[in-house]
Amino acid sequence: NTPLRLGIAGLGTVGRGVVTMVQTRADLLATRTGRRIEITAVSARSRHKDRGIDLSAYDWEDDPVALAHRDDVDVVVELIGGSDGPAKALAEAAFANGKDIVTANKAMIAINGQTLAEQAEAAGRVLRFEAAVAGGIPIVKALTEGLAGNKINRVMGVMNGTCNYILTRMEDAKLPYDTVFDEAHQLGYLEADPTLDVGGIDAGHKLAILASIAFGTKPNFEDMILEGIEHITFEDIRRASDMGYRVKLLGVAQMSGRGLEQRMTPCLVPKGSPLGRLENATNMVVVEAEEAGQITLRGAGAGEGPTASAVMSDIIDIARGLRLSTFGQPATTLQEAPAALAPIP
Ligand code: HSE
Repeated sequence: NTPLRLGIAGLGTVGRGVVTMVQTRADLLATRTGRRIEITAVSARSRHKDRGIDLSAYDWEDDPVALAHRDDVDVVVELIGGSDGPAKALAEAAFANGKDIVTANKAMIAINGQTLAEQAEAAGRVLRFEAAVAGGIPIVKALTEGLAGNKINRVMGVMNGTCNYILTRMEDAKLPYDTVFDEAHQLGYLEADPTLDVGGIDAGHKLAILASIAFGTKPNFEDMILEGIEHITFEDIRRASDMGYRVKLLGVAQMSGRGLEQRMTPCLVPKGSPLGRLENATNMVVVEAEEAGQITLRGAGAGEGPTASAVMSDIIDIARGLRLSTFGQPATTLQEAPAALAPIP
């Protein structure tokens, strides 16, 4: 079988993880897919930065879009980030030039995912994004494959590890928000723009993607009820704790007769419940499926290994010849989702 040749755009934490996995798991990947998976070219902002990985065998492109124009690239792995700009330009160029896209970019999928998926389908290419939602937790595949026959009633969960870290640390160490925010910053947990984390936007993007898959609707981040954790005080957490609750940045998406309800807001959850016991930077996604029942997935939502694992699962699907629809159904069949303000169940 011919090798599957990758062009990798973006060599931050996730890019480094993907390169490392391709290098260290080469034989395992070949055994599992029947093909060698190889990197032919890479692109990132700074060529000479020491990333602690050996890139000497790969061609370098200063412009990521050049990866989409190379004859020796089958799949472009987009790890640049941002809802449009270079990431979207790269995806569009890839489809136009007969390449598939694997991405970890939640903002791009939540905001432009449907348009891009339509472009991919029109070009006979695939767009895959397991890594965009909850890092190492294979929730996209759980919904699009494992639970594909189910009517989904609700998807909910904690999908931003940084916020969960901040909230649990405030409670455990009895510290104010600002102190723990600074700690999270020093630990490297926060996105370059911290508002994405603490404003609930990053988690909101993930919920919009899951809602789209679960309910067959166009991703609709704009109409989500969104509130971050910036205004949560230690006093709020202490009072909640006195009553037996923990404060979590919880996302809930459900379809009612009136439309799609999506909210990502600080919520009180019982201390003893699985969500209430979720510590540190862990993520948890709960799916309520009509036939399969309640499924709970818990794990690392960020970081080099977990996110690379998710990126690799999409690359493996492509290597195996699986040409699955991006959102679990053709993008052109996704329905408009009127936003509903449902009462809290
Ligand atoms: N900033 C995100 C988090 C990273 O804390 O969960 C993964 O999207």
